[in-house]
Amino acid sequence: MPSNPEYDSLEDVLKKVSLAKYIEHNWQPLKKIGSEYKILCPFHDDKNPSLSVNDEKGLYYCYSCKAGGNLITFIKEFKNYSSQEAIKEIENFFNIKISITNYNIPDDSNKKNKLFSVNTLIAELYNKFLLTNKSRAKAVSYLKSRGFDDEDIKENMIGFAPDSWNFLSAFVKNKTEKLDILDELGLVKKKENSNNFFDFFRNRIIFPIKNRQGTIVGFAGRSIDNSNPKYLNSKESIIFSKRKVLFGIDKFNKLKGKKPKFVLLVEGYTDVLMLNKIGFYNTVASMGTSLTLEHSNEIKKFSDKIIINFDSDKAGVDAAFKSIEPLFENNFDVYKLDLPNGQDPCEYIQKNGKDAFLNLLNASVSIIDSFIDYSKQQYLDKEKSLNSIISDFTTKISLVRDVFNRDLMINKFITAFSLSKNELENKIKIQENPPTSRRFDEEKNINDPIDIALKILLETVELRSKYFLECVKDNSDERYEKIIRLLEDNINMDPSNLITISNSEESNIISNLLFAKTAIDSDPIKKEKTLQDCIKKIKIESLKEKKRRINMKLNHQSEIASDEEHKLLMLLQNIIEEEKNLKN
Ligand code: UTP
Ligand code: MN
Repeated sequence: MPSNPEYDSLEDVLKKVSLAKYIEHNWQPLKKIGSEYKILCPFHDDKNPSLSVNDEKGLYYCYSCKAGGNLITFIKEFKNYSSQEAIKEIENFFNIKISITNYNIPDDSNKKNKLFSVNTLIAELYNKFLLTNKSRAKAVSYLKSRGFDDEDIKENMIGFAPDSWNFLSAFVKNKTEKLDILDELGLVKKKENSNNFFDFFRNRIIFPIKNRQGTIVGFAGRSIDNSNPKYLNSKESIIFSKRKVLFGIDKFNKLKGKKPKFVLLVEGYTDVLMLNKIGFYNTVASMGTSLTLEHSNEIKKFSDKIIINFDSDKAGVDAAFKSIEPLFENNFDVYKLDLPNGQDPCEYIQKNGKDAFLNLLNASVSIIDSFIDYSKQQYLDKEKSLNSIISDFTTKISLVRDVFNRDLMINKFITAFSLSKNELENKIKIQENPPTSRRFDEEKNINDPIDIALKILLETVELRSKYFLECVKDNSDERYEKIIRLLEDNINMDPSNLITISNSEESNIISNLLFAKTAIDSDPIKKEKTLQDCIKKIKIESLKEKKRRINMKLNHQSEIASDEEHKLLMLLQNIIEEEKNLKN
């Protein structure tokens, strides 16, 4: 029997095996469109195929959720495998042997677990402090005013960060490696120009924020001395992204797998906790940021209907209408529950009880009805022009994919504004069919010189040593900081291997560039010329920025000494010279 082919480099493996074949077998049949395959993306709730697979390059990229990478990252994400397990899977699936001891693939699961456990430890610390310390009175009385007692504090591990600059550093006995972890979690901050750390949360009530599995990923701190901001969040980290996490999502576990009839979307931490208290475990809040498509994807896993119950103030109403878009993109049935006199759900329930709330819940109205009513009022009060109302309305309903539903909404709108369908159509030329989907808007050419230059450098190893530095030395585009560093450290590595050794954020960005449709001539000489042109444009752009800055300084003449002014003028002169040379 012939033995299985053996490989000692991942690069060779990835060149040899077919990503398309793996995906086809493990996920869905592939449909070829042009040179690429297009299928439903397994990494978010996808309705129209938005995952592209390029088998020749061995890459995939989703234009909607922006997941991208190669076979190894696909297996890791799809099956929730470690790198080692993914390699095993490739061996088994393709019947090959991979004899590599040093994979050089980052596995951050250990790191994440470490961060999770530190978060838990600190949550327990703050919680114990709130339950037992004598300085707890003020925090307890605020919570009580919102309707929460010691039982709720225990149940939700609510805590209190004392009014101290070094509570946490003292707790970890100033051990550097421990302080570094707390720093990464945003629980302490480094004092500028020193090695000293201070507590991020001081004199604040602490709400732990949990992911779906119930693991603490971050914290919110509510001030109790009127200091601003009222709420602070621990910073974003590899385990905490506000775009993705929803406060309250862990409580869905209490539904024991039963699909809720709807999900309640509220604004505040206290709202979630109060609704939990009266038995609504299907409640989430997006914590001070507007609702994102990622949030919407997450909620969609549990239900198709959502009831928005934000504070009944202007900010709450605006926020509710703003979240229509990510929700309509996921085909949700969206309702809105209004509360009287500027109250929030927590307050309302505390004052009026569960039954009164249930009555209001039953009276929720479709969000589009509510939006039309609201727009009408704005129009009558001359707060907004009809044109801008129409444009707002059409942006929202263009996302509704069900034609019948969409027509219904349009009819309501024209009735409310005494328009005929013709008049409306003339104003906006609504297409007969719903747009295929906004998701594909992003599948456009890249135009920025830095995008194109990086794409060429990624694709063409031979051009890197000559042009890399020139190309990136003036880069001020934050998106690319990390992959520039990655390229710098691996200047001769081919793109697929770069993806293999990168983390998921980097891999997504690289795949996006590699997938971009911009036609770059494959002829080496023309390609090099394109790269040179890009570099020139990057330089001109960076000179412009420098000029703008100098001019701004010069405009504040009264604040600068004359020798400083002289220096700036000289600099400006040099820049203008440089610009001239470049343009010639
Ligand atoms: P609210 O001002 O309604 O606060 O903000 P609240 O949740 O009702 O709680 P208290 O009783 O006044 O403390 C609603 C939500 O907006 C976010 C928080 O997620 C908050 O729960 N927010 C508010 C911030 O992120 N930062 C702020 O400074 C204020
Ligand atoms: Mn509120």
